[in-house]
Amino acid sequence: MYGPNGAPPASRARPARKITAPEIRARKGATPISMITAYDFTMARLLDEGGADLLLVGDSLGMVVQGHPTTLPVTVEEICYHGRAVARGAHHAHVVGDMPFMSFQVSVERALDNAGKLVKEGSFESIKLEGGEEVAEHVRRIVAAGIPVMGHVGLTPQSVHAMGGFKVQGKGDEAAERVLEGARALEQAGAYAIVLEAIPPDLAAEITAAVSVPTIGIGAGPSCDGQVLVCYDLLGMYPDLQPKFAKRFAEVGEQIMAATRAYVGEVRDRSFPAAEHTFKPNGTRSAKHAAEAVAMAGNPMPPAPPALSADEIPPHWQTH
Ligand code: KIV
Repeated sequence: MYGPNGAPPASRARPARKITAPEIRARKGATPISMITAYDFTMARLLDEGGADLLLVGDSLGMVVQGHPTTLPVTVEEICYHGRAVARGAHHAHVVGDMPFMSFQVSVERALDNAGKLVKEGSFESIKLEGGEEVAEHVRRIVAAGIPVMGHVGLTPQSVHAMGGFKVQGKGDEAAERVLEGARALEQAGAYAIVLEAIPPDLAAEITAAVSVPTIGIGAGPSCDGQVLVCYDLLGMYPDLQPKFAKRFAEVGEQIMAATRAYVGEVRDRSFPAAEHTFKPNGTRSAKHAAEAVAMAGNPMPPAPPALSADEIPPHWQTH
């Protein structure tokens, strides 16, 4: 089905050329940039073939992959592990790695060291870190070392406790000014793009006009130079948290549940596996021998239990 190293078949393959950070930088004010999070090879390959410009191994993996209530427990090693898997599936999209909590805040040296790790051990082509003016020097040093950096201002989930929850940021003049200054500082420090998360759309428009690098919005309205979504939000697979901005472009979660119910039903009533899913019988041994062996083991086939009914579906998945 797939070629060597999981490459797509030749008929479906897109040019192998990767999108680079300078190309993303040059998209300011041009064709909007699409970024999606990815955490594994199979999803990365699908999103890549779907045409995503950037795949982000976000520290959101702490929530949507690991099941934590925040992104805080994620480690550099975990980001690198998922990065290697995503890189194998991304033949076209640029792959960005998120610097997790406490991998850069402690010092510029620690930030530089961990950014290097993400590139060397996580196969990332650029890194992203949260924060404004307070991380400008970190960004400058990482960029000077030859690693492209994406900034991230507005709602910065690693500061969830300081913010008192996952709340819209930049409301009111003073708060808006702080977010704008943060974006300006990142631009000056050499960031090639800046994520704007959960800020009012007029502030996002102002920042987008004020900086020379692309802004990539999530919950920041339509004026940004691009958009980013968590893949499980986009696909309708993460019902726990449904922020206003997380448009569900599909209901894959429901399809997975339906497919699972169908599978469980067919396993229970023994209609799966059918003949077409079964290898040829062993010609040297007859069905009679097999039946005798079962009878001798005193292990007759149990009657099929009923298939799963609709009320066995967990309530948070019952969207209709
Ligand atoms: O971790 C993440 O997924 C992110 C995006 C939501 C921007 O930072």
